[in-house]
Amino acid sequence: MSIWNGKWDYHSQDMFDERTDRALHDQSLFARDGGPLDPDSERVVYIKKIFDWFKGKSYLEVGCGFGRWSDILKDYYTNYTGVDPTKARIEYALKTYETSRAKFQHIGDGWNLYENFDVIFCFAVIQHLTMPDTIALLKCIVKHMHEDTKVILYEGRLGWFTEEEAEELYASEKCSNHMIYKPIGILEMEVPELKWRQINPLTYVLVRS
Ligand SMILES: C[S@@+](CC[C@H](N)C(=O)[O-])C[C@H]1O[C@@H](n2cnc3c(N)ncnc32)[C@H](O)[C@@H]1O
Repeated sequence: MSIWNGKWDYHSQDMFDERTDRALHDQSLFARDGGPLDPDSERVVYIKKIFDWFKGKSYLEVGCGFGRWSDILKDYYTNYTGVDPTKARIEYALKTYETSRAKFQHIGDGWNLYENFDVIFCFAVIQHLTMPDTIALLKCIVKHMHEDTKVILYEGRLGWFTEEEAEELYASEKCSNHMIYKPIGILEMEVPELKWRQINPLTYVLVRS
């Protein structure tokens, strides 16, 4: 199954590796998967608006891929750590974006950096995961939270909706492709350490319950 046709399985690492390999040799695929982002695009403008709320903080990006968000957000954080299970992506990020304030690390199952962050974010990752893998991911995130940590999830494709539900949400301006609505209850039930808080009309963040 192509990752674009549905959820992928975290344990199908071969698929990430194969896609990463292809992206590194195919400019147009790379532009979509990991190349530099257009600073004027709707997505970047929207994300920057959210991060205006969280300037001068420490950031952890989960599923950072090739590391491009570390560059886009460099004026916002004091220090940044990007983690990803796909080794070639982390290698690229280290070569391209590592600075004295931005570092990257390869992760495996049950990962733990033994460090807390003020802001933890995850873009276009959970949309591909099954619910059990989503829960596992959130449990790893919890280990890196202090009392005030905010977790920001931005997902372009709402993987756990039925096609019809997703269509409806996209059609209604309410969702406008940004945040996750439906799993709020489910995730709170499965990860009782977390609860959702709405911080502006379009944005929900996870905080410690
Ligand atoms: C569509 S890419 C998004 C990359 C990056 N967030 C961006 O927006 O450029 C999804 C990334 O999630 C990573 N990933 C897949 N499963 C993951 C998991 N269980 N935990 C963390 N990252 C995961 C993949 O290796 C891949 O780099």
